[in-house]
Amino acid sequence: MSIQESKKAWQERAEKGLAKSPERKKAFATTSNIEMERCFTPDFELPGYEEQLGFPGQYPFTRGVQPTMYRGRFWTMRQYAGFGTAKESNERYKYLLSAGQTGLSVAFDLPTQMGYDSDASMSLGEVGKVGVAIDSLADMEILFDGIPLDKVSTSMTINSTAAILLAMYIAVAEKQGVPADKISGTIQNDILKEYMARGTYIYPPKESMRIITDIFAYCKDHVPKWNTISISGYHIREAGSSAVQEVAFTLGDGIAYVEAAIKAGLDVDEFAPRLAFFFNAHNNLLEEVAKFRAARRMWARIMKERFKAKDPKSLMLRFHTQTAGCTLTAQQPDNNIMRVTIQALAAVLGGTQSLHTNSRDEALALPTEDSVRIALRTQQVIAYESGVADSIDPLAGSFLVESLTDQIEKAAMDYIEKIDKLGGAVEAISRGFQQKEIQDSAYAYQRGIETDDLVIVGVNKFTVAEPPPSGLLKVKEEVEISQKKSLAAMKAQRDQATVQGALKNLEAAARGTDNLMPHILTAVKAYATLGEIANVFRDVFGTHKETVVL
Ligand code: 3HC
Repeated sequence: MSIQESKKAWQERAEKGLAKSPERKKAFATTSNIEMERCFTPDFELPGYEEQLGFPGQYPFTRGVQPTMYRGRFWTMRQYAGFGTAKESNERYKYLLSAGQTGLSVAFDLPTQMGYDSDASMSLGEVGKVGVAIDSLADMEILFDGIPLDKVSTSMTINSTAAILLAMYIAVAEKQGVPADKISGTIQNDILKEYMARGTYIYPPKESMRIITDIFAYCKDHVPKWNTISISGYHIREAGSSAVQEVAFTLGDGIAYVEAAIKAGLDVDEFAPRLAFFFNAHNNLLEEVAKFRAARRMWARIMKERFKAKDPKSLMLRFHTQTAGCTLTAQQPDNNIMRVTIQALAAVLGGTQSLHTNSRDEALALPTEDSVRIALRTQQVIAYESGVADSIDPLAGSFLVESLTDQIEKAAMDYIEKIDKLGGAVEAISRGFQQKEIQDSAYAYQRGIETDDLVIVGVNKFTVAEPPPSGLLKVKEEVEISQKKSLAAMKAQRDQATVQGALKNLEAAARGTDNLMPHILTAVKAYATLGEIANVFRDVFGTHKETVVL
Protein backbone atom coordinates (compact mmCIF):
# COMPACT_ATOMS: atom_id res chain seq x y z
CA MET A 1 0.00 0.00 0.00
CA SER A 2 1.36 3.46 -0.85
CA ILE A 3 1.78 6.12 1.84
CA GLN A 4 -1.13 8.04 0.35
CA GLU A 5 -3.39 4.98 0.48
CA SER A 6 -2.36 4.24 4.08
CA LYS A 7 -2.93 7.89 4.94
CA LYS A 8 -6.43 7.78 3.45
CA ALA A 9 -7.27 4.72 5.57
CA TRP A 10 -5.82 6.42 8.65
CA GLN A 11 -7.78 9.63 8.00
CA GLU A 12 -11.01 7.62 7.75
CA ARG A 13 -10.29 5.91 11.07
CA ALA A 14 -9.34 9.24 12.70
CA GLU A 15 -12.53 10.85 11.39
CA LYS A 16 -14.65 7.99 12.72
CA GLY A 17 -13.42 8.94 16.22
CA LEU A 18 -14.38 12.59 15.83
CA ALA A 19 -17.97 11.93 16.86
CA LYS A 20 -16.82 10.83 20.34
CA SER A 21 -13.80 13.16 20.56
CA PRO A 22 -14.23 16.14 18.22
CA GLU A 23 -11.29 18.36 17.32
CA ARG A 24 -11.21 21.72 19.09
CA LYS A 25 -11.67 23.70 15.87
CA LYS A 26 -13.59 23.06 12.65
CA ALA A 27 -10.53 23.95 10.55
CA PHE A 28 -6.89 24.70 11.26
CA ALA A 29 -5.02 27.20 9.09
CA THR A 30 -2.07 29.57 9.23
CA THR A 31 -2.40 33.38 9.29
CA SER A 32 -2.10 33.23 5.48
CA ASN A 33 -5.03 30.85 5.43
CA ILE A 34 -2.90 27.88 4.35
CA GLU A 35 -4.47 24.64 5.62
CA MET A 36 -2.72 23.01 8.57
CA GLU A 37 -3.21 19.35 7.73
CA ARG A 38 -3.85 17.01 10.66
CA CYS A 39 -0.66 15.12 9.75
CA PHE A 40 1.70 16.14 6.95
CA THR A 41 3.31 13.24 5.05
CA PRO A 42 5.66 12.99 2.05
CA ASP A 43 3.87 13.24 -1.32
CA PHE A 44 6.37 10.72 -2.73
CA GLU A 45 7.05 7.12 -1.81
CA LEU A 46 9.53 6.92 1.08
CA PRO A 47 10.85 3.39 1.82
CA GLY A 48 10.47 2.54 5.52
CA TYR A 49 7.92 5.28 6.24
CA GLU A 50 5.28 2.92 7.63
CA GLU A 51 7.71 0.86 9.73
CA GLN A 52 9.61 3.85 11.15
CA LEU A 53 6.94 6.56 11.35
CA GLY A 54 3.43 5.44 10.44
CA PHE A 55 0.54 7.60 11.62
CA PRO A 56 -0.52 9.12 14.95
CA GLY A 57 -2.53 6.76 17.13
CA GLN A 58 -1.12 3.71 15.32
CA TYR A 59 1.81 1.38 15.82
CA PRO A 60 4.71 2.18 16.17
CA PHE A 61 3.25 5.50 17.50
CA THR A 62 6.40 7.45 16.58
CA ARG A 63 4.22 10.39 15.53
CA GLY A 64 2.02 10.38 18.66
CA VAL A 65 -0.33 8.22 20.70
CA GLN A 66 -3.65 9.79 19.72
CA PRO A 67 -5.11 9.97 16.16
CA THR A 68 -5.83 13.69 16.57
CA MET A 69 -3.35 14.61 19.36
CA TYR A 70 -3.60 18.29 20.36
CA ARG A 71 -6.25 19.03 17.73
CA GLY A 72 -8.55 16.85 19.88
CA ARG A 73 -7.22 17.78 23.31
CA PHE A 74 -4.29 19.88 24.45
CA TRP A 75 -1.80 18.19 26.73
CA THR A 76 -2.79 18.45 30.41
CA MET A 77 -1.29 21.55 32.00
CA ARG A 78 -0.28 20.02 35.28
CA GLN A 79 1.91 22.10 37.62
CA TYR A 80 3.73 20.16 40.34
CA ALA A 81 2.81 21.91 43.57
CA GLY A 82 2.62 21.41 47.31
CA PHE A 83 4.19 22.90 50.44
CA GLY A 84 3.46 23.51 54.10
CA THR A 85 0.18 22.21 55.46
CA ALA A 86 -2.64 20.59 53.49
CA LYS A 87 -4.60 23.85 53.83
CA GLU A 88 -1.86 25.95 52.20
CA SER A 89 -1.47 23.47 49.37
CA ASN A 90 -5.23 23.27 48.86
CA GLU A 91 -5.22 27.05 48.39
CA ARG A 92 -2.40 26.77 45.80
CA TYR A 93 -4.29 24.07 43.87
CA LYS A 94 -7.41 26.23 43.74
CA TYR A 95 -5.29 29.17 42.55
CA LEU A 96 -3.73 27.06 39.79
CA LEU A 97 -7.08 25.64 38.67
CA SER A 98 -8.51 29.18 38.57
CA ALA A 99 -5.51 30.25 36.44
CA GLY A 100 -6.44 27.60 33.88
CA GLN A 101 -4.39 24.53 34.73
CA THR A 102 -6.20 21.32 33.75
CA GLY A 103 -4.74 18.68 36.07
CA LEU A 104 -3.38 18.48 39.62
CA SER A 105 0.08 17.34 40.67
CA VAL A 106 0.88 16.86 44.34
CA ALA A 107 4.35 17.38 45.79
CA PHE A 108 4.78 15.73 49.18
CA ASP A 109 7.35 16.67 51.82
CA LEU A 110 10.25 14.29 52.45
CA PRO A 111 8.83 12.77 55.64
CA THR A 112 5.71 11.72 53.70
CA GLN A 113 7.86 10.35 50.88
CA MET A 114 10.10 8.48 53.34
CA GLY A 115 7.29 7.04 55.49
CA TYR A 116 7.66 9.21 58.59
CA ASP A 117 4.95 11.14 60.41
CA SER A 118 5.53 14.83 61.10
CA ASP A 119 6.25 14.08 64.77
CA ALA A 120 9.04 11.57 64.00
CA SER A 121 12.55 12.65 64.95
CA MET A 122 13.65 11.97 61.35
CA SER A 123 11.15 14.62 60.19
CA LEU A 124 12.74 17.49 62.09
CA GLY A 125 13.23 20.50 59.80
CA GLU A 126 11.63 18.84 56.79
CA VAL A 127 7.90 19.04 57.62
CA GLY A 128 6.11 20.84 54.78
CA LYS A 129 9.41 21.95 53.21
CA VAL A 130 9.71 20.43 49.70
CA GLY A 131 6.07 19.44 49.55
CA VAL A 132 2.88 19.11 51.57
CA ALA A 133 2.90 17.25 54.91
CA ILE A 134 0.42 14.36 54.90
CA ASP A 135 0.17 12.26 58.07
CA SER A 136 -3.27 10.72 57.72
CA LEU A 137 -6.58 10.68 55.86
CA ALA A 138 -7.52 13.81 57.84
CA ASP A 139 -4.82 15.78 55.99
CA MET A 140 -5.85 14.37 52.60
CA GLU A 141 -9.44 15.46 53.23
CA ILE A 142 -8.19 19.02 53.76
CA LEU A 143 -5.84 18.80 50.75
CA PHE A 144 -8.73 18.10 48.37
CA ASP A 145 -11.43 20.08 50.15
CA GLY A 146 -13.67 21.75 47.55
CA ILE A 147 -11.96 19.97 44.63
CA PRO A 148 -14.32 17.45 42.94
CA LEU A 149 -12.26 14.30 42.35
CA ASP A 150 -14.53 13.08 39.57
CA LYS A 151 -13.79 16.24 37.59
CA VAL A 152 -9.98 16.43 37.81
CA SER A 153 -7.10 13.97 37.37
CA THR A 154 -4.45 14.05 40.09
CA SER A 155 -0.83 13.00 39.91
CA MET A 156 0.91 12.17 43.15
CA THR A 157 4.71 12.15 43.21
CA ILE A 158 5.08 9.40 45.72
CA ASN A 159 7.05 6.19 45.52
CA SER A 160 7.83 4.08 48.59
CA THR A 161 4.56 5.13 50.26
CA ALA A 162 2.54 5.29 47.02
CA ALA A 163 0.14 2.53 48.08
CA ILE A 164 -0.75 4.44 51.26
CA LEU A 165 -1.40 7.75 49.48
CA LEU A 166 -3.44 6.00 46.78
CA ALA A 167 -5.55 4.38 49.50
CA MET A 168 -6.05 7.79 51.14
CA TYR A 169 -7.05 9.32 47.79
CA ILE A 170 -9.59 6.54 47.19
CA ALA A 171 -10.98 7.12 50.70
CA VAL A 172 -11.29 10.89 50.16
CA ALA A 173 -13.06 10.31 46.85
CA GLU A 174 -15.47 7.90 48.54
CA LYS A 175 -16.23 10.56 51.17
CA GLN A 176 -17.05 12.92 48.27
CA GLY A 177 -19.40 10.25 46.87
CA VAL A 178 -17.02 9.42 44.00
CA PRO A 179 -16.48 5.65 43.61
CA ALA A 180 -12.98 4.33 42.99
CA ASP A 181 -13.79 3.33 39.41
CA LYS A 182 -14.50 6.98 38.56
CA ILE A 183 -11.27 8.62 39.79
CA SER A 184 -8.38 9.26 37.44
CA GLY A 185 -4.78 10.14 38.08
CA THR A 186 -1.32 8.73 38.56
CA ILE A 187 1.01 7.65 41.31
CA GLN A 188 4.69 7.77 40.46
CA ASN A 189 5.29 4.45 42.24
CA ASP A 190 8.63 3.97 40.44
CA ILE A 191 11.03 2.59 43.04
CA LEU A 192 13.83 1.58 40.67
CA LYS A 193 14.77 5.16 39.75
CA GLU A 194 14.78 5.91 43.50
CA TYR A 195 17.54 3.33 43.99
CA MET A 196 19.27 4.62 40.84
CA ALA A 197 18.97 8.39 41.13
CA ARG A 198 16.46 10.04 43.47
CA GLY A 199 16.87 8.27 46.83
CA THR A 200 13.43 8.17 48.47
CA TYR A 201 13.47 4.37 48.83
CA ILE A 202 12.59 2.50 52.05
CA TYR A 203 12.25 -1.24 51.49
CA PRO A 204 14.49 -3.73 49.64
CA PRO A 205 13.85 -4.23 45.88
CA LYS A 206 11.97 -7.53 46.10
CA GLU A 207 9.51 -6.27 48.69
CA SER A 208 9.12 -2.94 46.89
CA MET A 209 8.29 -4.75 43.65
CA ARG A 210 5.64 -6.76 45.51
CA ILE A 211 3.92 -3.59 46.69
CA ILE A 212 4.07 -2.20 43.14
CA THR A 213 2.60 -5.29 41.49
CA ASP A 214 -0.08 -5.47 44.21
CA ILE A 215 -1.08 -1.94 43.15
CA PHE A 216 -1.21 -3.06 39.49
CA ALA A 217 -3.42 -6.03 40.40
CA TYR A 218 -5.73 -4.02 42.69
CA CYS A 219 -6.22 -1.10 40.28
CA LYS A 220 -7.03 -3.24 37.23
CA ASP A 221 -10.09 -4.51 39.12
CA HIS A 222 -11.05 -1.54 41.32
CA VAL A 223 -9.52 1.69 39.94
CA PRO A 224 -9.49 1.12 36.17
CA LYS A 225 -8.88 4.75 35.17
CA TRP A 226 -5.82 5.08 37.43
CA ASN A 227 -2.31 5.14 35.94
CA THR A 228 -0.55 2.81 38.35
CA ILE A 229 3.01 3.94 37.74
CA SER A 230 4.86 6.84 36.16
CA ILE A 231 8.12 5.25 35.04
CA SER A 232 10.45 8.16 35.37
CA GLY A 233 13.42 9.37 33.42
CA TYR A 234 13.09 12.91 34.79
CA HIS A 235 15.26 12.31 37.88
CA ILE A 236 17.75 10.18 35.98
CA ARG A 237 18.32 13.20 33.72
CA GLU A 238 18.38 15.56 36.70
CA ALA A 239 21.12 13.37 38.19
CA GLY A 240 23.19 14.17 35.08
CA SER A 241 22.43 11.45 32.52
CA SER A 242 22.47 12.08 28.77
CA ALA A 243 19.25 11.99 26.72
CA VAL A 244 20.13 8.49 25.47
CA GLN A 245 20.73 7.22 29.01
CA GLU A 246 17.47 8.83 30.18
CA VAL A 247 15.48 6.87 27.59
CA ALA A 248 17.48 3.66 27.99
CA PHE A 249 17.42 3.47 31.80
CA THR A 250 13.76 4.49 31.98
CA LEU A 251 12.62 1.88 29.48
CA GLY A 252 14.97 -0.61 31.13
CA ASP A 253 13.05 0.00 34.36
CA GLY A 254 9.79 -0.32 32.44
CA ILE A 255 10.87 -3.76 31.20
CA ALA A 256 11.63 -4.81 34.80
CA TYR A 257 8.16 -3.73 35.96
CA VAL A 258 6.45 -5.58 33.15
CA GLU A 259 8.47 -8.72 33.90
CA ALA A 260 7.66 -8.46 37.62
CA ALA A 261 3.94 -8.07 36.94
CA ILE A 262 3.91 -11.05 34.56
CA LYS A 263 5.83 -13.08 37.16
CA ALA A 264 3.18 -12.07 39.70
CA GLY A 265 0.60 -13.75 37.47
CA LEU A 266 -0.84 -10.77 35.55
CA ASP A 267 -1.52 -10.89 31.81
CA VAL A 268 0.41 -8.11 30.06
CA ASP A 269 -2.72 -6.54 28.53
CA GLU A 270 -4.37 -6.43 31.97
CA PHE A 271 -1.96 -3.82 33.34
CA ALA A 272 0.21 -2.41 30.53
CA PRO A 273 -2.42 0.10 29.27
CA ARG A 274 -2.14 1.90 32.62
CA LEU A 275 1.66 2.15 32.69
CA ALA A 276 2.70 5.77 32.19
CA PHE A 277 6.03 7.53 31.81
CA PHE A 278 7.66 10.76 32.91
CA PHE A 279 10.53 12.48 31.10
CA ASN A 280 12.70 15.56 31.35
CA ALA A 281 12.73 18.33 28.75
CA HIS A 282 16.28 19.64 28.64
CA ASN A 283 17.90 22.52 26.73
CA ASN A 284 18.75 20.97 23.36
CA LEU A 285 15.37 21.32 21.67
CA LEU A 286 16.00 19.15 18.63
CA GLU A 287 17.57 16.31 20.62
CA GLU A 288 14.67 16.38 23.09
CA VAL A 289 12.03 16.17 20.35
CA ALA A 290 13.90 13.23 18.80
CA LYS A 291 14.25 11.62 22.23
CA PHE A 292 10.48 11.58 22.83
CA ARG A 293 9.79 10.16 19.36
CA ALA A 294 12.43 7.46 19.79
CA ALA A 295 11.07 6.51 23.22
CA ARG A 296 7.54 6.06 21.83
CA ARG A 297 8.72 3.85 19.00
CA MET A 298 11.02 1.81 21.26
CA TRP A 299 8.31 1.12 23.83
CA ALA A 300 5.80 0.10 21.15
CA ARG A 301 8.33 -2.36 19.69
CA ILE A 302 9.40 -3.71 23.11
CA MET A 303 5.79 -4.32 24.18
CA LYS A 304 4.80 -5.91 20.87
CA GLU A 305 7.90 -7.98 20.13
CA ARG A 306 9.28 -8.81 23.59
CA PHE A 307 6.06 -9.08 25.60
CA LYS A 308 3.63 -10.03 22.83
CA ALA A 309 1.11 -7.43 24.00
CA LYS A 310 -2.00 -7.39 21.84
CA ASP A 311 -4.02 -4.40 23.11
CA PRO A 312 -2.90 -1.27 21.17
CA LYS A 313 -3.14 0.65 24.47
CA SER A 314 -0.41 -1.64 25.85
CA LEU A 315 1.93 -0.37 23.14
CA MET A 316 1.34 3.36 23.73
CA LEU A 317 3.99 5.28 25.63
CA ARG A 318 1.95 8.03 27.30
CA PHE A 319 4.12 10.48 29.19
CA HIS A 320 4.30 13.59 31.36
CA THR A 321 7.15 16.03 30.95
CA GLN A 322 8.72 18.46 33.37
CA THR A 323 11.11 21.09 32.11
CA ALA A 324 14.63 20.53 33.43
CA GLY A 325 15.01 21.77 36.99
CA CYS A 326 18.77 21.25 36.75
CA THR A 327 19.05 23.92 34.03
CA LEU A 328 17.47 26.65 36.17
CA THR A 329 19.99 29.26 37.30
CA ALA A 330 19.99 31.33 40.45
CA GLN A 331 21.75 34.07 38.49
CA GLN A 332 19.48 36.38 36.43
CA PRO A 333 16.40 34.21 37.26
CA ASP A 334 14.29 35.82 34.50
CA ASN A 335 16.51 34.00 31.99
CA ASN A 336 14.82 30.83 33.21
CA ILE A 337 11.57 31.93 31.56
CA MET A 338 13.23 31.62 28.14
CA ARG A 339 14.87 28.28 29.02
CA VAL A 340 11.53 26.86 30.20
CA THR A 341 9.81 28.14 27.05
CA ILE A 342 12.27 26.33 24.79
CA GLN A 343 12.06 23.16 26.89
CA ALA A 344 8.25 23.25 26.97
CA LEU A 345 8.21 23.70 23.20
CA ALA A 346 10.38 20.60 22.88
CA ALA A 347 7.91 18.60 24.99
CA VAL A 348 4.97 19.73 22.83
CA LEU A 349 6.78 19.14 19.54
CA GLY A 350 7.67 15.73 21.00
CA GLY A 351 4.03 14.83 21.76
CA THR A 352 3.76 14.94 25.57
CA GLN A 353 0.41 14.11 27.20
CA SER A 354 0.94 16.25 30.29
CA LEU A 355 3.36 19.07 31.12
CA HIS A 356 4.82 20.93 34.08
CA THR A 357 6.74 24.13 33.37
CA ASN A 358 9.24 25.22 36.00
CA SER A 359 9.04 28.66 37.55
CA ARG A 360 11.81 31.20 37.12
CA ASP A 361 12.63 31.34 40.88
CA GLU A 362 12.81 27.60 41.56
CA ALA A 363 16.60 27.50 41.65
CA LEU A 364 16.23 29.68 44.73
CA ALA A 365 12.99 28.72 46.50
CA LEU A 366 9.46 27.42 46.11
CA PRO A 367 7.70 29.33 43.31
CA THR A 368 5.72 32.45 44.14
CA GLU A 369 2.22 32.83 42.69
CA ASP A 370 3.54 35.33 40.15
CA SER A 371 6.25 32.94 38.97
CA VAL A 372 3.99 29.93 38.75
CA ARG A 373 1.47 31.96 36.75
CA ILE A 374 4.17 32.90 34.22
CA ALA A 375 5.10 29.22 34.00
CA LEU A 376 1.50 28.25 33.29
CA ARG A 377 1.04 31.11 30.83
CA THR A 378 4.08 29.78 28.95
CA GLN A 379 2.14 26.59 28.24
CA GLN A 380 -0.98 28.54 27.28
CA VAL A 381 0.91 30.75 24.81
CA ILE A 382 2.43 27.69 23.17
CA ALA A 383 -0.98 25.99 23.05
CA TYR A 384 -3.15 28.85 21.82
CA GLU A 385 -0.80 31.24 19.99
CA SER A 386 2.18 29.39 18.50
CA GLY A 387 0.31 27.14 16.06
CA VAL A 388 2.50 24.10 16.86
CA ALA A 389 -0.50 22.26 18.35
CA ASP A 390 -2.50 22.55 15.12
CA SER A 391 -0.74 19.78 13.18
CA ILE A 392 0.62 16.53 14.57
CA ASP A 393 4.35 15.81 14.94
CA PRO A 394 5.29 18.85 12.85
CA LEU A 395 9.06 18.17 12.79
CA ALA A 396 8.61 14.72 11.22
CA GLY A 397 10.49 14.39 7.94
CA SER A 398 13.25 16.72 9.04
CA PHE A 399 16.53 15.04 8.01
CA LEU A 400 18.02 16.10 11.33
CA VAL A 401 15.12 15.05 13.57
CA GLU A 402 14.61 11.69 11.86
CA SER A 403 18.33 10.94 12.01
CA LEU A 404 18.53 11.90 15.71
CA THR A 405 15.42 9.80 16.41
CA ASP A 406 17.04 6.76 14.77
CA GLN A 407 20.41 7.30 16.47
CA ILE A 408 18.89 7.79 19.92
CA GLU A 409 16.82 4.62 19.47
CA LYS A 410 19.90 2.65 18.41
CA ALA A 411 22.11 3.90 21.24
CA ALA A 412 19.38 3.39 23.84
CA MET A 413 18.71 -0.15 22.61
CA ASP A 414 22.45 -0.87 22.95
CA TYR A 415 22.19 0.13 26.61
CA ILE A 416 19.11 -2.04 27.10
CA GLU A 417 21.02 -5.00 25.68
CA LYS A 418 23.81 -4.34 28.23
CA ILE A 419 21.23 -4.19 31.04
CA ASP A 420 19.68 -7.45 29.81
CA LYS A 421 23.13 -9.09 29.85
CA LEU A 422 23.60 -7.95 33.47
CA GLY A 423 20.34 -9.72 34.39
CA GLY A 424 17.89 -6.83 34.03
CA ALA A 425 17.47 -3.39 35.60
CA VAL A 426 17.19 -4.53 39.24
CA GLU A 427 20.41 -6.55 39.04
CA ALA A 428 22.20 -3.83 37.06
CA ILE A 429 21.22 -1.23 39.67
CA SER A 430 22.48 -3.48 42.47
CA ARG A 431 25.84 -3.51 40.65
CA GLY A 432 25.74 0.26 40.22
CA PHE A 433 25.83 0.07 36.41
CA GLN A 434 23.33 2.83 35.64
CA GLN A 435 24.59 4.96 38.51
CA LYS A 436 28.18 4.86 37.18
CA GLU A 437 27.06 5.77 33.65
CA ILE A 438 25.06 8.70 35.03
CA GLN A 439 27.94 9.89 37.20
CA ASP A 440 30.30 9.86 34.22
CA SER A 441 27.85 11.90 32.12
CA ALA A 442 27.24 14.34 34.97
CA TYR A 443 30.97 14.84 35.41
CA ALA A 444 31.51 15.47 31.70
CA TYR A 445 28.64 18.01 31.63
CA GLN A 446 29.93 19.88 34.68
CA ARG A 447 33.50 19.90 33.28
CA GLY A 448 32.07 21.42 30.11
CA ILE A 449 30.61 24.31 32.10
CA GLU A 450 33.77 24.81 34.14
CA THR A 451 35.96 24.91 31.03
CA ASP A 452 33.46 27.27 29.31
CA ASP A 453 32.94 24.74 26.50
CA LEU A 454 29.29 24.76 27.61
CA VAL A 455 27.90 28.31 27.89
CA ILE A 456 25.27 28.89 30.57
CA VAL A 457 24.01 32.43 30.02
CA GLY A 458 24.37 34.50 33.17
CA VAL A 459 26.54 31.89 34.82
CA ASN A 460 29.77 31.59 32.83
CA LYS A 461 29.03 34.20 30.16
CA PHE A 462 27.02 37.44 30.01
CA THR A 463 27.25 37.69 33.80
CA VAL A 464 26.20 40.73 35.82
CA ALA A 465 26.74 41.73 39.43
CA GLU A 466 23.25 41.52 40.93
CA PRO A 467 21.66 41.80 44.40
CA PRO A 468 20.01 38.66 45.82
CA PRO A 469 16.36 38.53 44.65
CA SER A 470 13.68 39.61 47.13
CA GLY A 471 10.14 38.32 47.67
CA LEU A 472 11.04 34.63 47.62
CA LEU A 473 8.51 32.21 49.08
CA LYS A 474 9.65 30.77 52.42
CA VAL A 475 7.84 27.94 54.18
CA LYS A 476 6.85 29.32 57.58
CA GLU A 477 8.71 27.81 60.55
CA GLU A 478 5.48 27.25 62.47
CA VAL A 479 4.28 24.69 59.88
CA GLU A 480 6.09 21.95 61.78
CA ILE A 481 4.51 22.99 65.08
CA SER A 482 0.97 23.29 63.72
CA GLN A 483 1.27 19.98 61.84
CA LYS A 484 2.40 18.17 64.99
CA LYS A 485 -0.49 19.70 66.94
CA SER A 486 -3.10 18.60 64.40
CA LEU A 487 -1.56 15.11 64.27
CA ALA A 488 -1.74 14.76 68.06
CA ALA A 489 -5.36 16.00 68.09
CA MET A 490 -6.32 13.51 65.34
CA LYS A 491 -4.70 10.62 67.22
CA ALA A 492 -6.49 11.58 70.44
CA GLN A 493 -9.92 11.36 68.84
CA ARG A 494 -9.58 8.27 66.64
CA ASP A 495 -10.68 4.78 67.76
CA GLN A 496 -7.39 3.23 68.97
CA ALA A 497 -8.72 -0.35 69.01
CA THR A 498 -9.82 -0.10 65.38
CA VAL A 499 -6.45 1.34 64.38
CA GLN A 500 -4.53 -1.39 66.22
CA GLY A 501 -6.73 -4.08 64.69
CA ALA A 502 -6.19 -2.71 61.19
CA LEU A 503 -2.42 -2.53 61.69
CA LYS A 504 -2.35 -6.11 62.98
CA ASN A 505 -4.26 -7.33 59.90
CA LEU A 506 -1.89 -5.39 57.70
CA GLU A 507 1.10 -7.01 59.34
CA ALA A 508 -0.41 -10.46 58.79
CA ALA A 509 -1.06 -9.62 55.13
CA ALA A 510 2.52 -8.37 54.70
CA ARG A 511 3.84 -11.60 56.16
CA GLY A 512 1.54 -13.58 53.84
CA THR A 513 0.70 -13.32 50.15
CA ASP A 514 -2.50 -11.27 50.27
CA ASN A 515 -2.77 -8.21 48.04
CA LEU A 516 -1.82 -5.40 50.44
CA MET A 517 -4.09 -2.69 49.02
CA PRO A 518 -7.39 -3.71 50.71
CA HIS A 519 -5.62 -3.92 54.08
CA ILE A 520 -3.95 -0.54 53.60
CA LEU A 521 -7.34 0.93 52.65
CA THR A 522 -8.89 -0.40 55.89
CA ALA A 523 -6.02 1.05 57.90
CA VAL A 524 -6.19 4.54 56.35
CA LYS A 525 -9.97 4.64 56.79
CA ALA A 526 -9.39 3.96 60.51
CA TYR A 527 -7.07 7.00 60.46
CA ALA A 528 -3.92 4.96 60.96
CA THR A 529 -1.11 7.32 60.09
CA LEU A 530 1.26 7.04 57.14
CA GLY A 531 4.16 6.47 59.54
CA GLU A 532 2.34 3.72 61.45
CA ILE A 533 1.58 1.88 58.21
CA ALA A 534 5.07 2.36 56.79
CA ASN A 535 6.54 1.07 60.06
CA VAL A 536 4.52 -2.14 59.78
CA PHE A 537 6.28 -2.74 56.45
CA ARG A 538 9.67 -1.75 57.93
CA ASP A 539 9.17 -4.42 60.61
CA VAL A 540 8.15 -7.10 58.09
CA PHE A 541 10.25 -6.22 55.00
CA GLY A 542 13.28 -4.49 56.50
CA THR A 543 14.92 -1.50 54.82
CA HIS A 544 17.20 -1.12 51.75
CA LYS A 545 20.92 -0.39 52.03
CA GLU A 546 22.30 1.66 49.11
CA THR A 547 24.89 0.25 46.69
CA VAL A 548 27.89 2.57 46.93
CA VAL A 549 29.39 3.18 43.47
CA LEU A 550 33.03 4.27 43.42
N1 3HC B 1 -8.44 12.34 21.34
C1 3HC B 1 -9.18 11.53 22.13
N2 3HC B 1 -8.94 11.30 23.44
C2 3HC B 1 -7.87 11.92 23.96
C3 3HC B 1 -7.03 12.76 23.20
C4 3HC B 1 -7.36 12.96 21.83
N3 3HC B 1 -6.61 13.74 21.05
N4 3HC B 1 -6.04 13.21 24.02
C5 3HC B 1 -6.24 12.66 25.22
N5 3HC B 1 -7.34 11.89 25.20
C6 3HC B 1 -7.93 11.15 26.31
C7 3HC B 1 -6.99 10.10 26.85
O1 3HC B 1 -7.13 8.87 26.16
C8 3HC B 1 -7.43 10.00 28.31
O2 3HC B 1 -8.57 9.19 28.40
P1 3HC B 1 -8.43 7.73 29.10
O3 3HC B 1 -7.80 7.94 30.44
O4 3HC B 1 -9.82 7.21 29.15
O5 3HC B 1 -7.53 6.99 28.16
C9 3HC B 1 -7.84 11.43 28.65
O6 3HC B 1 -8.13 12.06 27.39
C10 3HC B 1 -6.73 12.18 29.37
O7 3HC B 1 -5.65 12.22 28.49
P2 3HC B 1 -4.21 11.67 28.96
O8 3HC B 1 -4.33 10.40 29.70
O9 3HC B 1 -3.32 11.70 27.78
O10 3HC B 1 -3.73 12.85 29.93
P3 3HC B 1 -3.56 12.81 31.52
O11 3HC B 1 -2.98 14.12 31.88
O12 3HC B 1 -4.81 12.40 32.17
O13 3HC B 1 -2.49 11.64 31.77
C11 3HC B 1 -0.33 10.67 31.80
C12 3HC B 1 -1.17 11.83 31.30
C13 3HC B 1 1.11 10.91 31.38
C14 3HC B 1 -0.83 9.36 31.17
C15 3HC B 1 -0.47 10.54 33.33
O14 3HC B 1 0.31 9.47 33.82
C16 3HC B 1 -0.08 11.81 34.07
O15 3HC B 1 -0.89 12.69 34.24
N6 3HC B 1 1.16 11.87 34.55
C17 3HC B 1 1.58 13.02 35.35
C18 3HC B 1 2.76 12.69 36.18
C19 3HC B 1 3.24 13.90 36.92
O16 3HC B 1 2.62 14.95 36.94
N7 3HC B 1 4.38 13.76 37.57
C20 3HC B 1 4.98 14.84 38.30
C21 3HC B 1 6.26 14.37 38.89
S1 3HC B 1 7.08 15.68 39.65
C22 3HC B 1 8.56 14.96 40.00
O17 3HC B 1 8.73 13.77 40.21
C23 3HC B 1 9.73 15.88 40.00
C24 3HC B 1 10.10 16.21 41.38
O18 3HC B 1 10.69 15.09 42.00
C25 3HC B 1 11.06 17.37 41.36
